Amino acid sequence: MAIASAGDLDRLKDVKAFDDTKTGVKGLVDAGIVKIPNIFIRPPDDMIKTSATDLTDIKIPIIDMEGVESDRRLEIVDEIRSASETWGFFQVVNHGIPVSLLEEMIKGVCRFFEQPDEAKMEYYTRDSKRKVLYSSNFDLYQSTAANWRDTLFCVMAPAPFDPEELPIACREINMEYSKHVTRLGTTLFELLSEALGLDPNYLKDIECAKGYNLLSHYYPPCPEPDLTLGTTDHTDPDFLTILLQDHISGLQVLHRNQWVDVSPVHGALVVNIGDLLQLISNDKFKSVKHRVLANRVGPRISVAFFFTTYVHPSTRVYGPIKELTSDEDAPKYKETTVTDFVTYFYSRGLDGKPALDHFKL
Ligand code: OGA
Ligand code: NI
Repeated sequence: MAIASAGDLDRLKDVKAFDDTKTGVKGLVDAGIVKIPNIFIRPPDDMIKTSATDLTDIKIPIIDMEGVESDRRLEIVDEIRSASETWGFFQVVNHGIPVSLLEEMIKGVCRFFEQPDEAKMEYYTRDSKRKVLYSSNFDLYQSTAANWRDTLFCVMAPAPFDPEELPIACREINMEYSKHVTRLGTTLFELLSEALGLDPNYLKDIECAKGYNLLSHYYPPCPEPDLTLGTTDHTDPDFLTILLQDHISGLQVLHRNQWVDVSPVHGALVVNIGDLLQLISNDKFKSVKHRVLANRVGPRISVAFFFTTYVHPSTRVYGPIKELTSDEDAPKYKETTVTDFVTYFYSRGLDGKPALDHFKL
């Protein structure tokens, strides 16, 4: 075992002191800090911030879902296939979720994070057996630099979920939002199945839509945004993510080795392919790296809806789908359970090597 250096021990002490406040990054900002604490400072070579979008008008695809049950469906399937193969990311508009509900969801996140500390602190925990966890940086103790972000993490399905477990500040809206997003998710899994040339029910039938987690992120304004990140670059350890972001930019996707802004579009939702869908599609669809810059203005709010059964015990095994492999296109990944995959991901944190690499054949 490596012996921890004095520097490591100092950092651990600072990390623990920050964690013990149970008020996250927002607590630091509320206290009026003007310099960010050392535990958030990233190595300088991580901090290349200019995006391709600053230089060109390259944009992630926007897909209009109007007419998905009509003749336009084939066109939509084509657009989803192309976006999933090349970008791993797209935005959807006319997705059927009222814009007013999206706005209410963002307000609910603000209500939770902006309530008095004492009310919020009772949810602050790293106990992964809990279904509702508020914390700052799930990987605080693994990462080399902490992110400028606090999160409320809710494990809402497949295990029975009692709404009473949710904080009152966002209880009703979280339930209502989840109902709508699971419906949209079901449609997207049908379209993704068709885009892979499979039966429309294929991905639903293998339970890709069975479980979901709701992650409400709060990115406070940052006094020194050039020294840290809102979220370190990573890929998502799920099948699919549907992300709601407010009007503040910061989200970027790695495309052809350049960071491209995912510009906020009012009323749109961002959809991205997760690692597990890349694995079962045998690399046909790409789980692409993305990150969030820290920002002088804020808070920036986002809500990530992860389709995954997470650590729910299941013996269901996922590997490259047989119909998508052949002699010329051999399976590229080992079989795994969702639990084993996400346990591996969470043991590494965002600074770790991509989890998919570990499952490559
Ligand atoms: C995530 C994520 C992006 C954002 O939760 O995995 O990438 O905009 N979020 O918060
Ligand atoms: Ni992500």
